[in-house]
Amino acid sequence: MITFHEKDKIFHLNNGRISYLFYIMESGQLGHLYFGKALRVEGSYLHMAEKAHRPMTTYIREGDLYTSYEHLRQEYPCFGTSDYRYPALEVQGGDGSCICKLEYQGYEIIKGKKSLDGLPATYTEEDGEAETLEIRMKDAWRNLEAVFSYSIFRDVDAIARSVRFFNCGEEDLFINRAMSMSVDMPDADYQSIQLSGAWARERFIKVRELETGVTSVSSMRGNSSHQHNPFLALKRKDATEHRGDVYGFSLLYSGNFLAQAEVDNYQVLRMMIGINPFGFRWKLEPQNVFVAPEAVMVYSKEGLNGMSRQFHRLYRTRLARGYWRDRERPVLINNWEATQFHYVEADLLQFARKAKECGIELFVLDDGWFGRRNDDKRGLGDWKANREKLPEGIEGLAKKVGQLGMKFGLWFEPEMVNKDSDFFRDHPDYILQTPGRSISHGRNQYVLDFSRKEVVDAIYRQMHKLLSEAEISYIKWDMNRSISECYSAAYPSDRQGEIFHRYILGVYDLHERLIQDFPKLLIESCSSGGGRFDAGMLYYAPQGWVSDDSDAIERLKIQYGTSLCYPLSCMGAHVSACPNEQVGRMTPIETRGDVAYTGAFGYELDLNKLNAEEIETVKKQVVFYKKNRTLFSKGDFYRLLSPFEGNFAGWEVAEPDGSRALVTVVRILSETNGPYRRLPLYGLLEHQEYHVQGRYHSYDAYGDELMQYGLMLEDKSSGQVVDGSGGCMDFLSVMYEITAKSND
Ligand code: DGJ
Repeated sequence: MITFHEKDKIFHLNNGRISYLFYIMESGQLGHLYFGKALRVEGSYLHMAEKAHRPMTTYIREGDLYTSYEHLRQEYPCFGTSDYRYPALEVQGGDGSCICKLEYQGYEIIKGKKSLDGLPATYTEEDGEAETLEIRMKDAWRNLEAVFSYSIFRDVDAIARSVRFFNCGEEDLFINRAMSMSVDMPDADYQSIQLSGAWARERFIKVRELETGVTSVSSMRGNSSHQHNPFLALKRKDATEHRGDVYGFSLLYSGNFLAQAEVDNYQVLRMMIGINPFGFRWKLEPQNVFVAPEAVMVYSKEGLNGMSRQFHRLYRTRLARGYWRDRERPVLINNWEATQFHYVEADLLQFARKAKECGIELFVLDDGWFGRRNDDKRGLGDWKANREKLPEGIEGLAKKVGQLGMKFGLWFEPEMVNKDSDFFRDHPDYILQTPGRSISHGRNQYVLDFSRKEVVDAIYRQMHKLLSEAEISYIKWDMNRSISECYSAAYPSDRQGEIFHRYILGVYDLHERLIQDFPKLLIESCSSGGGRFDAGMLYYAPQGWVSDDSDAIERLKIQYGTSLCYPLSCMGAHVSACPNEQVGRMTPIETRGDVAYTGAFGYELDLNKLNAEEIETVKKQVVFYKKNRTLFSKGDFYRLLSPFEGNFAGWEVAEPDGSRALVTVVRILSETNGPYRRLPLYGLLEHQEYHVQGRYHSYDAYGDELMQYGLMLEDKSSGQVVDGSGGCMDFLSVMYEITAKSND
């Protein structure tokens, strides 16, 4: 998949569907040529390196009025050498100079893909799945070596990149900026698509026209954030959900990030993603290494859906890992929205008993079980059961839940502490704070200094003890505030720019240790809902709580946006009570189920409060989900109707072999006597006859009809209420089952 053309000094990464091409410039730096649909391997592409004499330009050598880094498309631009756009790298030496010039030293092609020490990374399992090109670069003057790593996958249209830096000299160096990838694309005729929002409305799709200058999203909160996601797509203006050129860029990182598209005055587009340089400064001592997190670049000629399917495949099968990667996830019930902090063991067992009766497999005890945690002002850090609530501790409760025939799961917020806790009283110096300065709180809590190993160790010991003593098969790992006043008293002044990154390394380390100790533990990540829902977390936690907003109608946009980059298997989605806790909305329980199926499914309410009819519906939902959960989590996902664009939301999950598909359509507000509607489907077999089963009607049709003419949508309110039941017609959903008929 990787070739080097000696004559032209061109590297060509090609998997038959995508090509990525760059070359070694005369000056030794790397120039970018092309990324997109596959080009023939044998071609010469050097002429793509366009350059012209331009006024008001700084040239790199005397007598040459053509060669300026300002006008050359580059692979990994460094600061200070005639390029005035934002660089990928800025390194400062003891002399204060930030100029850097990395020159080519050599390359190696490796079968498969290396892991990144202490950081999440995609991986391979079998021979031939990926090849990796490692390019060695050096700034001889600074004695700085860099290794640029590019992996191309055989079965996914993605390239994974990362960079490692080695200080081979005698003096300390400071990395002020080290992006994970950068690419200079020849034109800027794209729209950028970002996933932005806030608490309870995470990852809404926002489209911006690129203009000369910088378009970016970032986080400086210590977590990847509710506000912006470490993901950015570039879409041709005429590209749609299903057709046209789309590029996606995603960072496998859970802390401060920057994703940036810069258009220069010649309409060249520089796209980069990596750790946010703001507040970042890494001291690289002699003989030490710094590794920038991995970034994944996807190209699709099948529009945004095509891009998403590539990310889904890669992230579900070669980023998520371990025991739960391919296993059916348990249907869970979580007590948070039902009880908040107020319960005793008897309430929980009653809660679990009813859940068991409905076929639910895992009972998750949320916040409030430890220390003196009766509200959000105290207890964080004391990971010991509150015996007033749970007389026989977590061990006793887990055992009783086990005797009901259910698995038991537990909530933690490992990175946080309340000042009113024994842990803080014993270790007041364990939080991130600047000595002598006031410190801000979030939800009455403070952030533990996870840049320090002894702090991580202290939390690890408590968690390890509980997980060893009690039958706990799942943990929900929460993180309910962003970091402020980031400063670690354990590090010297010239290392304070490392703390945000070291913090995340500490979080990854604790995850890794627990996974190694308890390989069958299922971890669901959470951060006040979806405040740290990113590709980095997926490496440790194969599912994440998408949002604290559990209303089915709000979830349409949240889950639709999330699906741009993240697979359904990782989206925690629950049926909650009505009126909904966050928006007070009443929605039919069928709609709540239909929306929550599209993820790691569960319930977030007290089933004892439902009437007999609703309980029957819950039982049916659980049976339906169990029957279809493999399809929901491993099927090919197609977005069909965008809730950002109209009154409907629709999506399809199809078996990769086209034998079966489930299509969900939600009409948000009722309309009377609306038009006839058809919805073209995807991923079916043209010449196969299917049985279409809707909520009210069924019919037979061939795949070509369903994909061309479309699925005929049912409308319960076309002027008259068909079944005479009356009631509110808003927020109705229909799930269509499309099943291949046997050819006998
Ligand atoms: C925020 C989470 O998103 C909720 O689901 C719940 O676990 C609370 N924290 C508990 O404090």
